Amino acid sequence: MRRKGLTFGVCLLGVACTLSAKDIKSAPLYKDAEAPIEKRVDDLLARMTLEEKILQLNQYTMGRNNNVNNIGEEVKKVPAEIGSLIYYDTNPTLRNNVQKKAMEESRLGIPIIFGYDAIHGFRTVYPISLGQACSWNPELVEKACAVTAQEARMSGVDWTFSPMIDVARDPRWGRVAEGYGEDPYANGVFAAASVRGYQGDDMSAEDRIAACLKHYIGYGASEAGRDYVYTEISAQTLWDTYLLPYEMGVKAGAATLMSSFNDISGIPGSANRYTMTEILKERWGHDGFIVSDWGAIEQLKNQGLAASKKEAAVYAFNAGLEMDMMSHAYDRHMKELVEEGKITMAQIDESVRRVLRVKFRLGLFERPYTPTTTEKERFFRPQSMDIAAQLAAESMVLLKNENGLLPLVNKKKIAVIGPMAKNGWDLLGSWCGHGKDTDVAMLYNGLVTEFAGTAELRYALGCNTQGNNRKGFEEALEAARWSDVVVLCLGEMMTWSGENASRSSIALPQIQEELAKELKKAGKPVVLILVNGRPLELNRLEPISDAILEIWQPGVNGAVPMAGILSGRINPSGKLAMTFPYSTGQIPIYYNRRKSGRGHQGFYKDITSDPLYPFGHGLSYTEFKYGTVTPSVTTVKRDGSLSVEVSVSNTGKRDGLETVHWFISDPYCSITRPVKELKHFEKQLIKAGETKVFRFDVDLERDLGFVDGNGKRFLEIGEYYILVKDQKVKIELID
Ligand code: BGC
Repeated sequence: MRRKGLTFGVCLLGVACTLSAKDIKSAPLYKDAEAPIEKRVDDLLARMTLEEKILQLNQYTMGRNNNVNNIGEEVKKVPAEIGSLIYYDTNPTLRNNVQKKAMEESRLGIPIIFGYDAIHGFRTVYPISLGQACSWNPELVEKACAVTAQEARMSGVDWTFSPMIDVARDPRWGRVAEGYGEDPYANGVFAAASVRGYQGDDMSAEDRIAACLKHYIGYGASEAGRDYVYTEISAQTLWDTYLLPYEMGVKAGAATLMSSFNDISGIPGSANRYTMTEILKERWGHDGFIVSDWGAIEQLKNQGLAASKKEAAVYAFNAGLEMDMMSHAYDRHMKELVEEGKITMAQIDESVRRVLRVKFRLGLFERPYTPTTTEKERFFRPQSMDIAAQLAAESMVLLKNENGLLPLVNKKKIAVIGPMAKNGWDLLGSWCGHGKDTDVAMLYNGLVTEFAGTAELRYALGCNTQGNNRKGFEEALEAARWSDVVVLCLGEMMTWSGENASRSSIALPQIQEELAKELKKAGKPVVLILVNGRPLELNRLEPISDAILEIWQPGVNGAVPMAGILSGRINPSGKLAMTFPYSTGQIPIYYNRRKSGRGHQGFYKDITSDPLYPFGHGLSYTEFKYGTVTPSVTTVKRDGSLSVEVSVSNTGKRDGLETVHWFISDPYCSITRPVKELKHFEKQLIKAGETKVFRFDVDLERDLGFVDGNGKRFLEIGEYYILVKDQKVKIELID
């Protein structure tokens, strides 16, 4: 909702001041909260000097030092006219002091926009995004993002550098943790959900923030999974795979985007006019702004495009990149570039307009300051913690459950072993915002609470996450021998995924695999709990585990749901949003590959060519029986309509959540299509004995059509298939 009433920006600490009649007459239009935003922008732009405009296009950082005694120093360093700051603090006072400088010491009193990386939570840390995607529950993801927005805004942050929607098919790349898996459509759905959660209907509300789709674009294609490196992306793949989630995020109203580090087939993302201007602004009509990734403008030199920082500024700015994050290329060189005629005033005005527009939409001119609240008022609200638990529960994927070992019944003695059992930090995952290890419910504690009164627990570390110290093996084996069942908690350290955290092998370190083998000597069933930020190579651990539960990096409240799944209180419902290869050597391996000319050949000689766990895999404690997939028609005209339904019955004894994935396949097309493509998904609760109908309303152009390498959309007549699980129905499209 838009705040009513004329307010004046210099008022202190969130108190909106009403102007007197005299002030109203003399107050400039841009301060009139009632005036249309475009008029306010026009008015403000007309008053700004070139220097003031240029500073709006720059982002610096502040607040790494959280010591309030340094506030004075921090504030002094920042120019009052700066456009944006990355705010590393959670203290509204520091923000307000800097903001006060902008409001009162700059000539025009333009508020600063404070940004921060709240990726999967601000302080109440949720599961990593890759885990969230496995919930297939965008409404829940939206709720989690809304909590992030509330915590961030109340802490002085107006803008998050999230969601990351880089389609990723190489799990060696550490940043797969930050996105929503390998499928373009799924990334798009979660992008839209996140944008809605962060921004709500009106991002000027005091519990909403601006979203930022990143990293535009193709960053997930980093060669060999190494971070920051070259990406080879054909025009067709750019459109088929990488652009779709961005288009969906832009349609959902994302206020901003971040340009990527990667060189895209010769033109780096941060100097790419085609993607930033032609596609984003001209075709999709995005009217917010793009911020560069950290230092990405300066890095155009290292990438071999620009010979100097000044030249880098020209490339980036003229390609359509409005805000410079930490390169100091715009603030240092832009004035000179205008004077030399290399950058036009019209382009500067257009860029500043975009930045100001977002600031007006955020209500920053009316409420530049953050009201002071206590941490207790902001963080870990009961409802936020419930969302954290529910999202963690729904993101967990039961990969294997031999002989129905899970849920654990009649187990009186449980050995809880492994480096993840009593671990806080690693459960938070990378980019954990302001999360702390002490915020985290540890897995062991979750099990203690869950099994209180029903089973005795014994803990042993066994080994660390890496290294070759086997000293703890003996104690662990002893605990395993004592037990009825071993709950083995293995995984990755939080620093092994995220930015600059590639791994050449996606297996767990040898010491952890050896521990698992050692415990097998006890002859007890083993439940493997996995805490990790990427798909793992499990081909050696899989045969020695009776059950495997993938819990990702579940955030602050994952222990209780994990224990609830083990006890049977919660029925697991997560399904993989990213393929688990059989081995690292299979990478890249993903479900929506294009077909081979020799489908019967071309397999590996030494290992299977199938993944260990495919996209969409995930077990439940109940059984779902699918009815026949039934289309409304089997022949449809281009301008006709088509919907498809399938009924799903829960024939087991427990209530369960089931996700139906709807795929399309176009067997013959003038541009070859992938084997199948996800076009729709839906999750429903089906009670034991109940049947629910799932429906897919096909949008012919969007779902059966395809784009070429220039983004032009086509819909060809001919045969199509709609696929659900192991069924497919043929549809004939006619003129
Ligand atoms: C990362 C971005 C992040 C930015 C600001 C960069 O290094 O690539 O994802 O938003 O830093 O922290």
